[in-house]
Amino acid sequence: MSKLVAGNWKMFGNKAMISDIKKIDQHCKEKTCEVAICPPFPLISAAHEQTKNIKIGAQNCHININGAHTGEVSAEMLIEVGAQLILVGHSERRQDNYETNDIVKLKSEAVHRAGATAVVCIGETLEERTAEKTLSVLQEQMLNSLPESVTPINTVVAYEPVWAIGTGLVPETDQIRSAHAFIRGFLASTYGAEAHNVKILYGGSVKGSNAKEIFSISNVNGALVGGASLKSDDFIEIIKAASNSM
Ligand code: PGA
Repeated sequence: MSKLVAGNWKMFGNKAMISDIKKIDQHCKEKTCEVAICPPFPLISAAHEQTKNIKIGAQNCHININGAHTGEVSAEMLIEVGAQLILVGHSERRQDNYETNDIVKLKSEAVHRAGATAVVCIGETLEERTAEKTLSVLQEQMLNSLPESVTPINTVVAYEPVWAIGTGLVPETDQIRSAHAFIRGFLASTYGAEAHNVKILYGGSVKGSNAKEIFSISNVNGALVGGASLKSDDFIEIIKAASNSM
């Protein structure tokens, strides 16, 4: 399966940085992996208009199509301005915005209803890993935040250990392998054979220098990249590693 490299710009970026997205898009003319960038909402439309070879995504959406929800944005609105995939349940939203598994599930369903791909983020905290609860936390998160409507087209699962996000810390290869194998097993037993084609991304301090090794781990079908997606040259290094690891 082709790898997906998705950039999560978080609350960074401005109009001038559309030129970085264009540069990445140009590089991706010849690429052999899938590439997406999720900038903040105000940049989605311009990013979409300026790109041909990569997908543009969003970082969050509301559960409803529309309504009296001041300050919120629906999946349908995001698709209309060019988003093709939407992150849901990122650990920063779980922490900062108190998003529970139940909310993440409703948001995933909203993304499916709108016709986009939900990138559902899961992952353990350092405390949970130290207490050897990693797999039970992942199981609980998948059981309660993935909807019945999951298919390889409408869903990507991103495994992001919370302690690896923005810290420069990356799990041991065996830790990534066992988490991804566990996620694959859960998906296959819940959704059947088709779930072997659901992409599972690794996220947390992915850089040009470690991407090759991470992409060589079985059941790692790409990466969700934060910090290193903000500089086009760094992000292109990761795209190259994904293209070469086919
Ligand atoms: P990072 O962030 O690459 O900066 O660790 C990853 C993420 O939060 O998706």
